[in-house]
Amino acid sequence: MEEVVQKKRMLSGIKPSGDLTLGSYLGAIKNWAERADEYDCYYFMADLHAITVRQNPADLRRRTLEQLAQYIACGLDPEKNTLFIQSHVHQHAELGWVLQCYSMFGELSRMTQFKDKSAKNADNINGGLFSYPSLMAGDILLYQPDLVPVGEDQKQHVELCHTIARRFNGVYGDVFKIPEPFVPKVGARIMSLTNPLAKMSKSENEDTGRVLVMDPPEVIMKQFKRAITDSDTTNCVRYDKENKPGVANLMTIYSACTGKTFEQIEQEFDGLGYGVFKPKVGEAVVETLRPIREETLRIMKDKAYLEGVFRDGAQRASYVAEKTLRKVYKKLGFVAK
Ligand code: TYM
Repeated sequence: MEEVVQKKRMLSGIKPSGDLTLGSYLGAIKNWAERADEYDCYYFMADLHAITVRQNPADLRRRTLEQLAQYIACGLDPEKNTLFIQSHVHQHAELGWVLQCYSMFGELSRMTQFKDKSAKNADNINGGLFSYPSLMAGDILLYQPDLVPVGEDQKQHVELCHTIARRFNGVYGDVFKIPEPFVPKVGARIMSLTNPLAKMSKSENEDTGRVLVMDPPEVIMKQFKRAITDSDTTNCVRYDKENKPGVANLMTIYSACTGKTFEQIEQEFDGLGYGVFKPKVGEAVVETLRPIREETLRIMKDKAYLEGVFRDGAQRASYVAEKTLRKVYKKLGFVAK
C-alpha cells in the first residue's frame, strides 16, 4: 500500500495597510514561495490587523486585492496554496477574542511594535493596537502550522503566540500545536535607504527610503542612487553593520536578490566604490521585482479570477479553522450549537 505522507503546514500573513515594500518581499514572501512545494501553505491578507491604524476604505480594498495578485505573482500558486482574506474567515476574530482572555496586560504592554506604533499614533492608541498579538496568535493557532515564516520584527509576536498557546494547553490539554518562527538568514530586516537605522516600512508615507514592489524601474534606480552609504571617506564596499549600516543594508539587499555572499560582493566591488555599487544594487532589485510587477498588473485585470481565488481560499481555510475553533469552544465549556 502506498504510504501517504502528511505535509508539514506553513502559515503567514501581511497587513494590507500600505503598498507592499521590498522589505516585506525579501523578509517574508520570497521565503514563502521558495517552500511552497514542501509545505501545505496558508497565506492571507491580514485586513483585520490593518484597521488598528485608520485606513481609507477604498485604498484598503484596492491594496487587499493587489496583495493577493502579488502573492500569486511571487509564485504562490492558488491551486497548491490556500490564499485568503482574513476577514472572510470569521474564526480569526472569534479565536482572537478567546486568546485575548489568555494574554496578559503586562505581556502585551511589552511588545516593541505596540510601543513604536503608539508613539507614532498618539491620538489613536486603541484597544486593537494593544491586543493585536492575541489576534495574531489566533491567526496562527487556528491552522496548527509547523512553521511561521516572518521577518525579524514579527518574531516577538510569534514568541508571544508560544506563551499564549502553552498557557492554554496547560489548562485544557494539547489543543494547540506550538509553531516555530522561521526568520531568513539574509533579508530579515531591510532598512530604509535614507535612514539605515529604521526599518523599511510600508506605513511611512512619502518616505524616499522605501522601495515598493510596484515601483517602476526608473523610480527604483533613483531611490538606490540616492541611498545613504556612510559618512567615512573610504568609499569601500565592506560589510560592517555597526559602523557602516547603510552599506550593510545595501549589501543585504544585493545578497538577497542575487544569492551572492557578502565576501563575493566585497570582491566584486573591490576598489570600485559606492558610485558603481549603488546603481548595481538598484539594477538587481529592478530585475528581481520586474516579473512580479508585470505579473501583478496582468492578474489585477482579471477581477473574476481573483474573486474565484479568494472565495475558494476562504472556503478551504474556514474548514481547517472551524475544526480548531470547535475544539477550543468545547474545551472552554461553551454549549454546542
Ligand atoms: P507586516 O504586514 O508588518 O509585514 C509582513 C511581513 O513582512 C516582514 N517585513 C519585513 N521583513 C524584512 N524587512 C523589512 N523591512 C520588513 N517589513 C516587513 C514582516 O516581518 C512580516 O513577516 N502582524 C503581521 C501580519 C500577521 C501575521 C499573522 C504574520 C498577522 N497575522 C500571523 C504571521 C502569522 C504584520 O503586521 O506584518
